[in-house]
Amino acid sequence: MKKVKSKFGPWALITGASSGIGEEFAQQLARTGLNLVLVARRGDVLQETTDYLSKTHNIKTRVISADLSDPQTVDALPEKVADIDIGLVISNAGADSMGALIKVDPAVLRSMYSLNTYPHLAFTRYFSERMLKRKAGAIVLVSSMAGLQGTAFGANYSAAKAYILNLGEAVNRELRDTGINLTVLVPGPTDTPAVGPRDDIDFSKMPVSPMKVSAVVRGTLKAVLVNKPVYVPGVMNRVLAFVTRRAMSRSTASAMMSAMMKKAVPDHLKVTL
Ligand SMILES: NC(=O)c1ccc[n+]([C@@H]2O[C@H](COP(=O)([O-])OP(=O)(O)OC[C@H]3O[C@@H](n4cnc5c(N)ncnc54)[C@H](OP(=O)(O)O)[C@@H]3O)[C@@H](O)[C@H]2O)c1
Repeated sequence: MKKVKSKFGPWALITGASSGIGEEFAQQLARTGLNLVLVARRGDVLQETTDYLSKTHNIKTRVISADLSDPQTVDALPEKVADIDIGLVISNAGADSMGALIKVDPAVLRSMYSLNTYPHLAFTRYFSERMLKRKAGAIVLVSSMAGLQGTAFGANYSAAKAYILNLGEAVNRELRDTGINLTVLVPGPTDTPAVGPRDDIDFSKMPVSPMKVSAVVRGTLKAVLVNKPVYVPGVMNRVLAFVTRRAMSRSTASAMMSAMMKKAVPDHLKVTL
């Protein structure tokens, strides 16, 4: 994995680095010797992580505490890293609120929609242009298997994750032969705090058990090194993705994934007359 530093160093920026997949990217990238900019709302958590990583791996770090559901905050971020040479961006921050659309507060829907779409667009636009000037770099956008088809009881999330998938797949093609790689990570359930005990969904009722976050991140770094446009981690997830995308109609795939979600979401978050 040392190749990641020589190909994309010296700095990486990771959003949503205070927990789960983003934090694991920080741990694995620090081990390769990359300097890190970590972004999330909880600056205190990020500070603890960077204190540890800079001491343990002798790397430089920067913490940016930012609420990325606010587009103005997103637009202000590039200025905060204009002085450092960023060759790798992991656009990972994301969140969901499950339940039938009419059961979710409109303000929550708007905030999730904003967080799960605009930062990916803005950072891909800004950093790919910057990377083109240095003729090397890579971007990872974090989508979800929920974005492979319309998935009931997570409609807003599923739609936003489809946006990320199509955005990244398209920009990967635009950047071919420029030295800039772009990979969309499409995880299934992954062992992070997001799949822990929650009021709106019980992940233990899903038929697929969560994958280890370390394996998801390791696989993604290998995928972005070879410029894979889309990376689905795990054999079970790849089989499911193949079946839902190629072996059945969109309508059947949507019905199947929605039925799985229906089992995992509590009754009070379903539509009743
Ligand atoms: N775990 C899974 O099963 C799974 C499956 C498919 C896709 N994903 C995707 O993977 C990504 C990471 O998820 P995870 O499982 O690692 O979740 P997680 O452990 O809950 O981490 C989410 C990260 O996003 C940050 N974040 C949330 N809202 C934010 C906001 N408004 N502004 C800035 N940062 C914000 C959080 O930091 P703060 O709270 O400090 O802001 C945290 O660092 C997400 O995009 C998620 O949709 C996860």
